[in-house]
Amino acid sequence: MKDEKFYKPSKDIIKSANVKNYEKYRQDAIIDLEGFWEDAAKELDWYKKWNTVLDDSKAPFFKWFKGSKTNIVLNAIDRHIKTKGKKVAIIYEDEKGRSRKITYSELNDEVCKFANVLETLGIKKGDRVVTYMPNIPEQAIAMLGCAKSGVIHSVVYAGFSHEALRKRINESGAKLIVFADGSYRKGKEINLQEIAEEALKKAPSVKKAIVVNNLEKKPKLNDKRELIWDELMEKASNKAETVKMDSTDPLFILYTSGTTGEPKGVVHDHGGYQVGISRTLKWVFDIKDNDIYWCTADPGWITGHSYIIYGPLILGTTTLMYEGAPIYPTPDIWWKIIDKYKVTVFYTAPTAVRLFMGLGDKHIKKHKLTSLRLLGSVGEPINPSAWKWYYEFIGKKKCPIMDTWWQTETGMFMITPVPTMDLKPGSAGKPFAGIQAFIVDENEPHEILRPEEKGLLVIDTPWPAMLTTLYNSPKRYIEKYWKDIPGYYLTGDYAMQDLDGYFWIEGRSDDVIKIAGHRIGSAEVENALVSHKDVAEAAVIGVADELRGEVILAYVLLKKGVNGSPKLKDELKQHVRNEFGPIAVIKDIEFKDKLPKTRSGKIMRRVLRAWSKGEDPGDLSTLQD
Ligand code: WTA
Repeated sequence: MKDEKFYKPSKDIIKSANVKNYEKYRQDAIIDLEGFWEDAAKELDWYKKWNTVLDDSKAPFFKWFKGSKTNIVLNAIDRHIKTKGKKVAIIYEDEKGRSRKITYSELNDEVCKFANVLETLGIKKGDRVVTYMPNIPEQAIAMLGCAKSGVIHSVVYAGFSHEALRKRINESGAKLIVFADGSYRKGKEINLQEIAEEALKKAPSVKKAIVVNNLEKKPKLNDKRELIWDELMEKASNKAETVKMDSTDPLFILYTSGTTGEPKGVVHDHGGYQVGISRTLKWVFDIKDNDIYWCTADPGWITGHSYIIYGPLILGTTTLMYEGAPIYPTPDIWWKIIDKYKVTVFYTAPTAVRLFMGLGDKHIKKHKLTSLRLLGSVGEPINPSAWKWYYEFIGKKKCPIMDTWWQTETGMFMITPVPTMDLKPGSAGKPFAGIQAFIVDENEPHEILRPEEKGLLVIDTPWPAMLTTLYNSPKRYIEKYWKDIPGYYLTGDYAMQDLDGYFWIEGRSDDVIKIAGHRIGSAEVENALVSHKDVAEAAVIGVADELRGEVILAYVLLKKGVNGSPKLKDELKQHVRNEFGPIAVIKDIEFKDKLPKTRSGKIMRRVLRAWSKGEDPGDLSTLQD
């Protein structure tokens, strides 16, 4: 790593950057944290100003911009109507070539209508609404409509199956679900309605379900709670008040995987969140008024919330939503889209970069890609060879790559370069201004490590877009993030800082698996396996995969009398797809007659990891058997 040379930004990049003396801001923010974030907050609109920037009297339940009144929709839509009403807010396209452009004023109409639909259905401030849709404008409209009404949305990624969806609906106690009838993926029709209806069978809190017609045929209604989106929207008025919220009122819950089978309901608020995501997006992706910004993530994940929908809209940008796979119908579809819409900022995941790299550069050569100015990467570490390929072939050696490290919990970029910074391929750069990050020893007393030593990545300072709690589980919030390393926020990642102060993220230290950037909890996959009639116990780990970063290796203990045949392996893989979702890619299953457990019954993944690599598992004295 030490041999990596710096990639320096061009004079043009430096000249045009929104922030020129970034290093000074970083230094100043260490001394005056509140001043730094207060300046960022002043760039936004508020109904009423805050009394304090940061109230830490009940830490770790930090309160940002306490005393203020706001709503993220005030900043994402309302304030743009006069000046940017005719500007395109959302460009949408799908793999069938269907496309739409929605201006800020049209978006406002739709969001107002949806807010009125919510009111008609009796959904009130503080109620929860689950959405289950692909990357389509209705997803954004539903989220923004909820926010406008003070209703808490909880988006469930459309790659999750009925069991995972049901769990998230029930955990949040949602009164309403909005789902699409389906989507087209690599030429196939995915029936989301069937999955949603299966989940609804055991979801008593849900009083109504709205079906968005995204397929080319009309949906049939099979559950008496179901209503049709278009019919409701047609009747609704396009005028609605934006509800004045406290800064700390919840905006959304996003369930994410942790160490247990129960997903964690990460809660983000209206006030701090909007400040954190808008400042980071403006500085890191250097957003300008004429940008066409494309983040290829999905709104089902935090990246979609912060940096497809809310962040870009707050900055009054044009954001592109593409519904489809990277290389379908042709391997160059993404490059076509970039040229077609003259995309200037492109933000994707390392797994996609590696996929394209494997295809060679012939598909890229057909396209100009000259509109691109900046590139981004997120979701998992990007290996230096993929970084260099991305830089050379997509960025044509003139677009800096922003390798942004952050999490569902952090809400915003935490460790990241900015365009004026010298870059090292594979490093996420330095903590953003106002963020102090350290590497601490995994073993007690968790001392701060020296440069070049690998340890646990922790964050010292609170930041405005931080999670406010875990939904209905404040105790778990403290236990998961603030207890193990007292005084710090524990990220769950291993990392190293080099002698130049650059951070290198080395993957998760807990039971989270990152498959193609998707965050998956091993326990949820294990539960899916155990729900099969032949399985007694199961344990899964993530193992390295060249394309996807990680994939799953499963160890399964079968019930007595069942034989572990190759046919059963296939059946189990299919079972996990059905129960959990196709995103849990299982590479292989090994049948075992015992699984390594501690005396308290906890699976020892350390031993499984050693097994998978054919290594010695080390000290086994705590094993049950
Ligand atoms: C990983 C995604 C290396 C990391 C925004 C983190 C990364 C987890 C990077 C959070 C990056 C995210 N380099 N690793 N640039 N970005 N990660 O909650 O392990 O889906 O803890 O949020 O992704 O995943 P999540």
